Amino acid sequence: MVATQNPSQAFSMREATAADRPEVEALIAEMIPGCDVAARWKWLYDTNPGGKALTWLAIAPTGEVAGCTSFFPFRLWLDGEEVRAALGGDGYVRPAFRRRGLGGLMHDASRRGMPAHSIGCMYGAPGAMNLTPLKHGGSREVGAVCRYVRPLRVGPPLVGALVARASRPWFAPKLEPMQANDPRIDAVWLNARRDLKLAAVRDTAFYQWRFRDAPAQREPAYVITDAGQPIGACALESLYDGKELHIVDLVAIPGAWHSCLRAITRHAIDHTLAATLSIKLFSIDARSRHMWRSGFVERDGKPFLCMIPTDGDRRFLDPQRWFYTGADSDLDSLS
Ligand SMILES: CC(C)(COP(=O)(O)OP(=O)(O)OC[C@H]1O[C@@H](n2cnc3c(N)ncnc32)[C@H](O)[C@@H]1OP(=O)(O)O)[C@@H](O)C(=O)NCCC(=O)NCCS
Repeated sequence: MVATQNPSQAFSMREATAADRPEVEALIAEMIPGCDVAARWKWLYDTNPGGKALTWLAIAPTGEVAGCTSFFPFRLWLDGEEVRAALGGDGYVRPAFRRRGLGGLMHDASRRGMPAHSIGCMYGAPGAMNLTPLKHGGSREVGAVCRYVRPLRVGPPLVGALVARASRPWFAPKLEPMQANDPRIDAVWLNARRDLKLAAVRDTAFYQWRFRDAPAQREPAYVITDAGQPIGACALESLYDGKELHIVDLVAIPGAWHSCLRAITRHAIDHTLAATLSIKLFSIDARSRHMWRSGFVERDGKPFLCMIPTDGDRRFLDPQRWFYTGADSDLDSLS
């Protein structure tokens, strides 16, 4: 009998320690060329209110670090209580070590580490290259995250602008810039969570970190008010040289989802030159919200994956529960 050797078996997987920081920073610099690594580290790895990042490394037999993958802890709201989970991100294998199964083995190691860190689930809508490695590491495809798009202006610029202004929603609530540590976001969240079964906690601490303190500063956050009362919160990003306004996040008190979309539509027409408005949502949730009522149509989508530990809580795998937007992302800018 001929023994076959799997080359990946010579590699070892381990959790990174503080001493590995320079190596992880070097991997981030290779993975995201042009990235301000120090700013990304401070924001995403160190000061996230969900907790400090957890990183796993693949080590080659020579001792060289071949790759890394990270968990960015997120507080999730699950059936009326806060639980600890994580967004998966910064998965990278150095080109010389790819396609040997290391990506999958690192995800596998991170899965085994979940109980020790009290992480109930790791989730995200990964890039295409990371799909198979994640599935090999134990992630499940729970559904799809889709882009919903609404036209704002059609036809030649002047005519389009006039038509858009004339047809914009007249009785819409207002967008007011989020202030530092804005208590109105907490007020919105305390109400909004009553309608949500499984979603990232979108309280003041989260909005402050995710949007106001984000290094790129390209996703300004707003409180949506109706007759002076906060009814929602959102963050917006201008894409494609201002041609599209993207709703990075929207959270609304019960019954106010479409009023909030109307407010954003009016804001987009009055304060930007964008031709389209877009938002990414978990498709099952979006369909139940009847996005067409606010003029949005479903476009392209990508898989949404979730990983729980062996014998973990299967509610995380229930597609009917999830509420997901671009706020559930380790990127602070899409542009
Ligand atoms: C994504 C990434 C981390 C995957 O790392 P990897 O170590 O190459 O991953 P794996 O080897 O586990 O799997 C990659 C592919 O190799 C295949 N593979 C796994 N073991 C293999 C082996 N022994 N021989 C040949 N192919 C193998 C897998 O089936 C998979 O193929 P597919 O995705 O085409 O279906 C790496 O490609 C990378 O760093 N990409 C750039 C950064 C990036 O896109 N990160 C993802 C952000 S979400």
